Amino acid sequence: MAEILSVGEAMEQALALLEGGDVVAIPTETVYGLASDATNGVGVARIFEAKGRPRFNPLIAHVADLAMAERIAIFDPLSKRLAEAFWSGPLTLVLPLRPGNGIHPLVTAGLDTIALRMPRGFGGELIARLGRPLAAPSANSSGKISATTAQAVAADLGAKIRLVVDGGATPVGLESTIVKVEGNSVRLLRPGGIAAADIEAVTGLKLQRGAPAGIEAPGRRASHYAPGAAVRLDAQNVVEGEALLAFGVRRAEGWQAAAALRNLSASGDLREAASNLFAYLQELDRSGAATIAVEPIPFEGLGEAINDRLFRAAAPRDKLD
Ligand code: TXA
Ligand code: MG
Repeated sequence: MAEILSVGEAMEQALALLEGGDVVAIPTETVYGLASDATNGVGVARIFEAKGRPRFNPLIAHVADLAMAERIAIFDPLSKRLAEAFWSGPLTLVLPLRPGNGIHPLVTAGLDTIALRMPRGFGGELIARLGRPLAAPSANSSGKISATTAQAVAADLGAKIRLVVDGGATPVGLESTIVKVEGNSVRLLRPGGIAAADIEAVTGLKLQRGAPAGIEAPGRRASHYAPGAAVRLDAQNVVEGEALLAFGVRRAEGWQAAAALRNLSASGDLREAASNLFAYLQELDRSGAATIAVEPIPFEGLGEAINDRLFRAAAPRDKLD
């Protein structure tokens, strides 16, 4: 059962858990977040595992200051103005990733953009002490409403996590507003804790609403990394020239002929497999093979989200939403 510690007493234990690649539930000004070190793939996989999310949605990375944000992402002048106006606070900016950013690809679901925000209070202090960004979705099981008290987090996730940091009821009570600057305009990707009118007052621009031709809506195919190679699932054998995405101890027949091979987890550990998924898909894609054959992966635990991602990578490109 998770321990509940007040913000005044939780810092050292929270740091130790994050350093060890574990998750911690923390208060922010919006809702409670389920946080892990955004550079640690196993830690990020644990977030999805604890939430029971059937999909790997890209997560928000939380930073301590603008300097940390600028090491991770490339700011255009308008995004910079919005950060200066609203950080720390409930505004999330979607920005292009900077090369060598150190963020684990499971945080961005393999995208080349990242959602960044600077939270108020304990979260900000924790990130500054850790010296690394924290990935954190809302601290609730998939499909349940976001938690705004430590007690709500503990009632929902208490059996799956070690520590809930209690900062009282969150003042804003709903998630951050997410925007993305596109050239000379700003698009509202998710309404939230900062009113659209307040953002418009800073930029002098009317916010664009709705997804442009279905591109930016969270969870839609085009917002997710799609390999250029075809993907063949449940492969029992390897056809010469195919790349092989393996899992576990037993190899598909003819694996020696694979043009390139990555094993998501030689020991069959789904947490390790989740943390390797996006990087290995990209590496096999870059190998130049026309097809990536994927060995069967069990559906239990994180296997559901891994299989969901692979199904969508394998589906005919024009059939996806
Ligand atoms: O207030 C909040 O924002 C809370 C607290 C804990 O900070 N966090 C939160 O995170 O709501 P999460 O992971 O549940 O929400 C992430 C949202 C999703 O809708 C996701 O699709 C979108 O951000 N997102 C993340 N990365 C994106 C990207 N690169 N492009 C577009 N949308 C992105
Ligand atoms: Mg949520």
